[in-house]
Amino acid sequence: MIFEQIATGGCLSYLMGCTESRAAVLIDPHLAQIDRYLGLAAQNGLSIRYLLDTHTHADHFSAAKELGRRLGAPVVTSRPSPAPYSSFRLDDGEILRVGAMRLKALYTPGHTRDSMCVLAGDRIFTGDTLLIGGTGRTDLPTGDPDALYDSLFNIVLKQDPNLLVFPAHDYKGRSHSTIGTEIQSNPRLQKRERAEFVEMMTHLNLAAPTHLTEALRTNMSGGKTVEQFLAEAAAKVPFIALDELAERVEAGALDMILLDVREKDAFDAGHIPGAQHLPRGQLELRVNKDLPDPTRRILVACEFGRISTLAAATLHDLGFTRVAALDGGMQAWREAGYPVTRN
Ligand SMILES: [Fe+2]
Repeated sequence: MIFEQIATGGCLSYLMGCTESRAAVLIDPHLAQIDRYLGLAAQNGLSIRYLLDTHTHADHFSAAKELGRRLGAPVVTSRPSPAPYSSFRLDDGEILRVGAMRLKALYTPGHTRDSMCVLAGDRIFTGDTLLIGGTGRTDLPTGDPDALYDSLFNIVLKQDPNLLVFPAHDYKGRSHSTIGTEIQSNPRLQKRERAEFVEMMTHLNLAAPTHLTEALRTNMSGGKTVEQFLAEAAAKVPFIALDELAERVEAGALDMILLDVREKDAFDAGHIPGAQHLPRGQLELRVNKDLPDPTRRILVACEFGRISTLAAATLHDLGFTRVAALDGGMQAWREAGYPVTRN
């Protein structure tokens, strides 16, 4: 078996491949690591056949849908998963065959209603049900401490004590543990009475994860993250640096339409000399009248360089073949002391 653990901050994902067939499964993939997964698979001569999410993540963006689409590989979730992009859902006890490997789903709700653990030979992927020296929290949407108690004490901890535990998170850089070690030393598992355990889990008072709303929105729907949107827009157009534009403006040699897409107030308060105003909110509706020549060179600017990227990508999609975005925005332009005008 070929095995790679990939850490992204405290999030852990796993690439596991069959030595003979070279078929592989990617467990709990993280959106920020897509190129790394593809690189690791290529480096190991593996073909990723399945993307598997152990549960709906609330703290990071799953790459399952995006990679599934790119690779033409099915996304596998547990039966109660709400993800509309799930290709098929494993019921408790069902097995996923990946080459010669057998991955068995254990339905373990608690951290979320759709949590599962995955048994594979000498190891178990515990998702956020069992962590090293901890457990998943139960205070986020669909969490249930009572269910987690059952999943841990009646299912996970009853597995072979020698099984290697590979969780979906570790914030201290540890790679794995064993069931036996966790039974002995995991502080949360020392509360063996249901009522005590539930009491402890209900009073952890943990801070909400960053990106909670966005992670649940995208992971539950398959929609895009804001960063994905921006990255896709940025990939469609070239950029022009602030100092390059400043040189041209100062030399009076602006050989392109400089389109400022901020709101009117911001434009009136100060803009680059020679800029033409067209707020992004009215872009599509005014484009035919304001920009009649699609072959003209256009440079789009905004306050921070993000909205201008989106606007430039929109213009690109509308058929403007020579549109570019300013690499930076008016804020950086002013800070650099470049010329600003009010009319
Ligand atoms: Fe989680």
